[in-house]
Amino acid sequence: MKEQTLVIIKPDGVKRGLVGEVISRYEKRKFEIKSCKVVSPDRSIVELHYEEHSGKPFFEELVNYFMEGPVFVMIVEGNEAIEVIRNMNGDKNFKVALPGTIRGDFANSTTRNIVHASDSGEAAQREIRIWFPEKH
Ligand code: CDP
Ligand code: MG
Repeated sequence: MKEQTLVIIKPDGVKRGLVGEVISRYEKRKFEIKSCKVVSPDRSIVELHYEEHSGKPFFEELVNYFMEGPVFVMIVEGNEAIEVIRNMNGDKNFKVALPGTIRGDFANSTTRNIVHASDSGEAAQREIRIWFPEKH
């Protein structure tokens, strides 16, 4: 089924020059970039995006990390995009992220793990609304 998902290349991914690499992987897997932009997010949008993690021990560090530098946000579309893009990104824990995944190839930290992607259809809709409000 054709789906859209919200992907964010996090500050370390942008800083390390991995935007092209990440997009290239998705494109080779037949996904299409429907919208994209570079954003320097303020605290409120990051807190809203990661609302489900509010109050967890890593939350402050995560929000501060997201404001270290610009992020690259995109809407990615294709067959079963939500599940396939999550699989291509790999496990959030860099120690178990498999080689061949984006995190498994490039991350050496669980916080600084290069990419975010929506984990369900509801999350994708919600996150697209947050980062691309002009689309609604
Ligand atoms: O990003 P993903 O959906 O795979 O994982 P999550 O459990 O929703 O966590 C969101 C983000 O919080 C992760 O990608 C990490 O950047 C960060 N995190 C962290 O710094 N330390 C943890 N123990 C768990 C998550
Ligand atoms: Mg998540």
